[in-house]
Amino acid sequence: MFPLLTMSAVYAQPSLDASTLLKNKICMHCHQVNERRVGPSFKMVADKYQQDKTVTVEELAKRIVEGGIGQWGPLRMPAQPKVSTEEAIIMADWILHVKGDEQVN
Ligand code: HEC
Repeated sequence: MFPLLTMSAVYAQPSLDASTLLKNKICMHCHQVNERRVGPSFKMVADKYQQDKTVTVEELAKRIVEGGIGQWGPLRMPAQPKVSTEEAIIMADWILHVKGDEQVN
C-alpha cells in the first residue's frame, strides 16, 4: 500500500507527464505504442479516432477509466479505478495524438 500512496502524492502535482502515467498505471502491460499487445496499439487508437471524431478526448478518458469491450476485439479492458479523470484526460490526449515513434519508458 505505501508505494501506491506515495505515487498518488506524486500524481497530485500539476505537471503530469503522459508517458510516466502510462508506465506507472501499468497500461503498457497490455498496450504498446506501435504494436497490438493484449489491447490495440495507441497508434491504432489514434488512427481510428482521427477518422471517427465522435470520440473526443473526454470520451476516450471515460473509456480508459471505465474499461470496455467490443471496440477492438473480444477482450475486455478492465476498469482502472486508480486512474483519476484528470490523469485519464492527459493520457487520452496523448494517445489521440500519438505519431507512432514515441517511446514510453
Ligand atoms: C489488462 C489489460 C489492459 C490494461 C492494463 C489496460 N488496457 Fe487498455 N485496452 C485493453 C483491451 C483488451 C482493449 C480493447 C477493448 C475493446 O475492444 O473495446 C483496450 C482498449 C484501450 C483503448 C481504446 C478504447 C476504445 O474505446 O477504443 C485505450 C485508449 C486504452 N485501452 C488505454 C489504456 C490506458 C491509458 C491504460 C492504463 C490506464 C490501459 N488501457 C490499461 C487492455 C488493457
